[in-house]
Amino acid sequence: MPKQAELFPPEAFADSDDVVIIGGGLAGLFCALKMAPRPVTVLAAAAIGTGASSAWAQAGIAAAVSKGDTVEKHVADTLAAGAGIVDENIATLMVDQAADRIHDLLEYGVPFDTDLEGHLLTSREAAHSENRVVRVKGDMAGKAIMGALVSAVRSTPSIRLLEGYVAEELVMTGKHVTGLIARPDEGRSQTRIELTTRAIIIATGGVGALYEITTNPKQARGGGCGLAARAGAVIADPEFVQFHPTAINIGKDPAPLATEALRGEGCTLHNDAGERFMLKIDEDGEMAPRDIVARGIFDEVMSGRGAWLDCTKAVGSHFKDEFPTVYGYCQDAGIDPAIDRIPVIPAVHYHMGGILTDADGRTTLDGLWACGEVTSTGAHGANRLASNSLLEAVVFSSRIADDICDHLPLGKQHPIVQRNGPEDGTEPNPENLKLLRETMSKYVGVVRTEEGMKKAISILQDLSQKSTSTRFTNALTTAKLITVAALLREESRGGHYRTDFPDPKESWKRRTFLTLDEVENTIAELTAKICETA
Ligand code: SIN
Repeated sequence: MPKQAELFPPEAFADSDDVVIIGGGLAGLFCALKMAPRPVTVLAAAAIGTGASSAWAQAGIAAAVSKGDTVEKHVADTLAAGAGIVDENIATLMVDQAADRIHDLLEYGVPFDTDLEGHLLTSREAAHSENRVVRVKGDMAGKAIMGALVSAVRSTPSIRLLEGYVAEELVMTGKHVTGLIARPDEGRSQTRIELTTRAIIIATGGVGALYEITTNPKQARGGGCGLAARAGAVIADPEFVQFHPTAINIGKDPAPLATEALRGEGCTLHNDAGERFMLKIDEDGEMAPRDIVARGIFDEVMSGRGAWLDCTKAVGSHFKDEFPTVYGYCQDAGIDPAIDRIPVIPAVHYHMGGILTDADGRTTLDGLWACGEVTSTGAHGANRLASNSLLEAVVFSSRIADDICDHLPLGKQHPIVQRNGPEDGTEPNPENLKLLRETMSKYVGVVRTEEGMKKAISILQDLSQKSTSTRFTNALTTAKLITVAALLREESRGGHYRTDFPDPKESWKRRTFLTLDEVENTIAELTAKICETA
């Protein structure tokens, strides 16, 4: 990362554009490129392409492009995975635009795998009825896509980059978002900047780093969802957190991923005794929906029986060539997956919930759009179909670009204002962050109970009262949204599983919509009840 002085020569602060995109992952960069030549500013917590989950995606983008596949089949799989609460119109719109967006990515230089005749090659993942995942060199899709987009962005003169800044607060004028306040990332000066805007697009990614074990980068702490909720935006389906079944269990934070495409190739799951435990749990065995496999592995790990992914027969000596990313992770840990089994554990991978958006990425606040994992468009319901996330990111960021360019004339430029002096700590206290992550994993994780979630709420409330960091307050806000929504949903569905309500309920076959005020009221009521009974 360049030093601040190199990143921000004085002239960079002369004028700001009226459109600011917060986030340097796939959704943010694709939106910026789609808006060119309209001037936009991209504000990113780390150098663009890093600090975002997109570059770590292994499998690819789901698109019905192979022979025999159709939009209808892809929609049907998306609805089935989403466990009854996918918004069918949104899912259809998303799936229908997949081929066009893949075409855009090819134009930006993404080297998707093709056969000798130039047809896209596709892989299979769990809960897909067809081979549908457009990929790059086996497991390198995210890296290749982000590499191409980062180069395209860096050579697009209409895109200005403010890298190493974390957005902390939206500035409101009534119900209208009219600006934002951001600060440098950790270890740099406390100078904050204020930007006046006509349109802000939040594309800050997910929530994995609110948990102890995650495949997401440390920046994925729910900050974007938290800052939008604090400004009054409606948040949808926050209780639905997806655990990837097979993170590599080598004690690393973040945990490296062993792509689901490995199970698609026939790799099998075993416990220490060599038993193929998934066969007892679901007729689809290792290819059962992600939440079922995650719970199967969780049970084995928690009961001390251990869980291992065996690729020695299905992939064997081809591993290094076919799955170079996973091979590299294994090699670093002294594992040769061609001959050794890979230890696995479920890890938070994706947040189905987030800022409520419509088909054009508009939120419930004027002047605020959002795209990518930070949103809840309704396309994923209670459980995302593998590889639909990169698809959602490109489809809706492109629609936002059209919406803004079609409806928002170029505005007056406003200077970026710099203010010296810290008003609060920037980074959370490490002990408090550790407690937050332990609490979410222990009480709001793969398996949830009323008692556990009530404990979590009390700890989160205590941490909120002590927080002196706006950044930490944003993270806690998202954690509270997840926990309260999970407590209110008295059933199990998709990624949300409660031992006290283990089945889905017809009365709960609906999405959740919550504001932060409603969450705080629920917490106040709970606290009052606890005091009454004490
Ligand atoms: C994977 O490669 O297993 C992850 C794909 C996804 O989460 O969509």
